[in-house]
Amino acid sequence: MTGFSADWLRQREPFDLAARSQTLALQFRAALVQRAPDANLRVIDLACGSGANFRALAPLLQADQEWLMLDHDPLLLAAQRAEIARWAARQGWACQDHAGTLSIHVGPTRWLVRGQQLDLARDLEALDLASCDGLVTTAFLDLVSTSWLDRLSTLLTRTRRPLLATLSVDGRRTWSPDRPTDQLVADAFLSHQGSDKGFGPSLGIGAADYLADSLAMASYQVSTQASDWAIGPEHREMLVTMAQEAAAVAIEANPANAPAVSDWLAQRLASAQQGLLSLEVGHLDLLAVPPTEN
Ligand SMILES: C[S@@+](CC[C@H](N)C(=O)[O-])C[C@H]1O[C@@H](n2cnc3c(N)ncnc32)[C@H](O)[C@@H]1O
Repeated sequence: MTGFSADWLRQREPFDLAARSQTLALQFRAALVQRAPDANLRVIDLACGSGANFRALAPLLQADQEWLMLDHDPLLLAAQRAEIARWAARQGWACQDHAGTLSIHVGPTRWLVRGQQLDLARDLEALDLASCDGLVTTAFLDLVSTSWLDRLSTLLTRTRRPLLATLSVDGRRTWSPDRPTDQLVADAFLSHQGSDKGFGPSLGIGAADYLADSLAMASYQVSTQASDWAIGPEHREMLVTMAQEAAAVAIEANPANAPAVSDWLAQRLASAQQGLLSLEVGHLDLLAVPPTEN
């Protein structure tokens, strides 16, 4: 099992929020409204974690909404209910829990959110896509394999639902100022991207492009936009987390690199403390809209 802590998802959420393509999100909204002009917009979120996708998209979709939030991690699903309730309270919106379904009232609109535990590696085909108007996922595609993306493509093309897949890592990572050991750390990160995260060997940085190509071949209208994190010197805590994670991955990939990587990490932590470090991390947002039915 690939473990993601609620703390890490909370730490990355503001960077995701700032990076997301508003243009693609609004085009996704248009595709949903076209399917359901007079009804609730029904969205399924794959690998929802603690609910960041819902918090980012629900205010943009505006209409009455029903969200089905899927993840295999019961701890994250539990954290999600609490995080969404806290978020709604911060916004001044009423939020009630009816037997596990959250109901959030925002002016005249109502958003229903239900979590469900599902292993997407094993049970993707158990999803009833006919019961939704569109699919979303965030920070997930880079974990999966080519064969899993083929399964997702098949499911989408059979049911003709739009997909908004945001924040897939695309391999670009730029530390500033640059250091000679950056390349060694970057190469180790890229080799880690291909490891098995429960879906077979991950396609990693190639996943968004691979899915874009296969949905375009199935006559979907596909658009991608960069959604890069810009982590400035003022975000010291995030820079420290990113540097520590990069160093751990580099040493795991090749323990012989430990002395060089430890020096690199010490330099990076010192720069972060001095307010001299920044980092850009490349991501891609992907929107795929099915061909209209005749
Ligand atoms: C990087 S996190 C992203 C979470 C969330 N979408 C967000 O943006 O905060 C990846 C998510 O994939 C979920 N995941 C990993 N393997 C899974 C599987 N086999 N079935 C369902 N969810 C899975 C993890 O539990 C985690 O919530």
